[in-house]
Amino acid sequence: MKKNTQQCNQIVENEKHYYSQAGKLPYFPLAIKSGQGAIIKDQDDNSYIDFLSSAAMLNTGISHPKIVEVITEQAKDFVHYIFPYIYHEPSVQLAKKLTEITPGNFDKKVIFGLSGSDANDGMIKFARAYTGKSKIISYIGSYHGSTFGAISLSAISLNMKRKIGPLLPDIHHINYPNCYRCRFNNTCDTCSLECLNELEDAFKYYLPTDEVAAIVIEPIAGDVGMVVPPKKYMEKLYSLCKENNILFVVDEIQQGFGRTGKWFGIDHFDIEPDIMVLGKSIASGLPMSALVGRKEIMESLGAPAHTFTGAGNPMACKASLATIEIIKDEDLISKANTHGDYIREEFKKMQEKYNIIGDVRGLGLSIGVELITDTKEKNSVAASKICYRAWEKGVLLTFISQNVLRIQPPLIISKEEIDSALEMIEESIVEFLNGEIPDEVLETSKGW
Ligand SMILES: Cc1ncc(COP(=O)(O)O)c(C=O)c1O
Repeated sequence: MKKNTQQCNQIVENEKHYYSQAGKLPYFPLAIKSGQGAIIKDQDDNSYIDFLSSAAMLNTGISHPKIVEVITEQAKDFVHYIFPYIYHEPSVQLAKKLTEITPGNFDKKVIFGLSGSDANDGMIKFARAYTGKSKIISYIGSYHGSTFGAISLSAISLNMKRKIGPLLPDIHHINYPNCYRCRFNNTCDTCSLECLNELEDAFKYYLPTDEVAAIVIEPIAGDVGMVVPPKKYMEKLYSLCKENNILFVVDEIQQGFGRTGKWFGIDHFDIEPDIMVLGKSIASGLPMSALVGRKEIMESLGAPAHTFTGAGNPMACKASLATIEIIKDEDLISKANTHGDYIREEFKKMQEKYNIIGDVRGLGLSIGVELITDTKEKNSVAASKICYRAWEKGVLLTFISQNVLRIQPPLIISKEEIDSALEMIEESIVEFLNGEIPDEVLETSKGW
């Protein structure tokens, strides 16, 4: 499988020289030159179908013309001016719009940031300030970002915790409900939500609920492996929160803005969260995050408790307003559903042919394809090799949780592009099974 990657390789080598690798999770040497919609071009003019959407940051695709237009127009007026000191209209329009499209039939307020990570830090501040309690519950395997609060919430890699402590105190982690790997060997029929016993026991024996400010959950656990929790789990978790005056917080950074086939992942569970943490696709690629919370929670802190010079950037606000319009005008929520159903069906057909596919799951265009060994162990070698081979063929495909293919194409992707990508992925699976992908690719394709 020979392709010209000379310039890309050079850029990778140069980067290793100048850039700290603490910020890199390499899969393959792809140095992007340009992109449009669901197609990426690299520096050597190879093309790829995008099955990643910049880690769910580009639900509207790469450089959507409307996004380019509003950013360009705004830049002509002013690129930025310190938002904590002055006012501008796009930010007010966006704050209003976010309170309208998020679930919750109550008064809400919004605050902006620059990354999902800082939004999670802000969420911890508001949750603690409002409740007067300090403990926060999060999930094992989760990724919530790289600032100190977000790292403390995360539990995905020891590399995030080593050498930098002490981290934030009073953050507790429990297991995410994972029906494919049920720790109680239940099926849907026999399940009595034994997975919640862990939390209930914690509340009974060592985690006083009057000290717990919030539970933070992803409505689909992205980095846990695109795991969809049972609806009854979410309902019971929500009830436990309400019974104990604990805030129910959702991190929608990865699953929000139409990706799951509803505006937000939590909409699948008919739950109105107290705080929503938004980021990634909120501004179609511009750095922006937001917290949307009950008004009284968002009024529990005084300035400058959560203030950033670059927050509320008008280009990002305009891009976010345009993102919301694009999702509506181009019917992207229905597309996420139809495309998502189709992709899941196609992977299920492959599952019948290849034992290596243990599970196909997800909602809308957040899909996980779990690769396993004969004994249902995580098949991380298969995931690395298949993603690498798919890249060689022309699909940008990655894996999470060591062995789960991450299928998150932009919502604007066409059926033809999906079909080509699926064909290349299936060929890669077959070539893996035939032993045609060399071990040396494991040196490069490391991922998380
Ligand atoms: C669920 C979730 N929360 C938070 C973050 C952190 O967002 P950012 O990288 O914008 O700081 C991510 C990023 O991958 C994420 O997937």
